[in-house]
Amino acid sequence: MDKDRRPRHVAIIMDGNGRWAKARGMSRTQGHLEGVKRVEEIIKAARDMGIKFLTIYAFSTENWSRPQDEVSMIMRTFIMVLGQKAKELGKNGIRINFIGRRQGVPAEVLKAMDDAAHVTKNNTTMTLNIAFNYGARGEIVDAIKSIFTQTREGKIKIEDIDEKLISSHLYTKDQPDPDLLIRTSGEERISNFLLWQLSYAELYFTDKYWPEFNEEEFLKALTSYAQRERRWGGIKI
Ligand code: IPE
Ligand code: IPE
Ligand code: MG
Repeated sequence: MDKDRRPRHVAIIMDGNGRWAKARGMSRTQGHLEGVKRVEEIIKAARDMGIKFLTIYAFSTENWSRPQDEVSMIMRTFIMVLGQKAKELGKNGIRINFIGRRQGVPAEVLKAMDDAAHVTKNNTTMTLNIAFNYGARGEIVDAIKSIFTQTREGKIKIEDIDEKLISSHLYTKDQPDPDLLIRTSGEERISNFLLWQLSYAELYFTDKYWPEFNEEEFLKALTSYAQRERRWGGIKI
């Protein structure tokens, strides 16, 4: 694939673990566990393709509304996977960065997140943003509060507020916006993900459930992206 036609930043809404399991007479837990295998596969594939930023939606602020046993199963799995895999990802040059609100996340989960971020912090090959307890409207609220605080403290003037400044107060500060958004499972919605950052992203939807989204499917998405003509509001020359 032409290097210039490769996205720098790919964002993924990993959806359909439950439906994948149901279709096979399995529990939702088994769906999430199979989904974890694809997460590993896609992280490595993205790294090998030279993608610099990969953002994956692991748990939304709305996902707390699921049954208590599913939520606690997801929390336990998250702790276990981070503990087992962070070092290995680190050896592969991957920096793990979390986006989302810390407030409301159980202490033992925060500890696993902090450890994973710490052991991978000096890596530069690819940044893996894990969106956890993430909601895009909440992110914008947090950015507004932070800008307002700095304005009140005299650190910035109202005239300084522009798109660049707002971007720099989001959880994804210092990162390019996603070029490509992938959503699996046939749903075609954003579900409160990266509302500001997706402004000009190319969108790719597939009917595959997340546990079926393997490297081959990922390459299909990248091939589709490579064929798109991005215009940014301009005209084709
Ligand atoms: C995505 O799969 C994983 C999370 C949101 C944590 P789902 O659990 O949403 O699976 P479906 O959409 O119910 O099939
Ligand atoms: C989006 O999936 C959130 C994650 C993948 C973590 P959901 O399954 O929560 O989204 P909706 O409810 O179908 O919009
Ligand atoms: Mg879902």
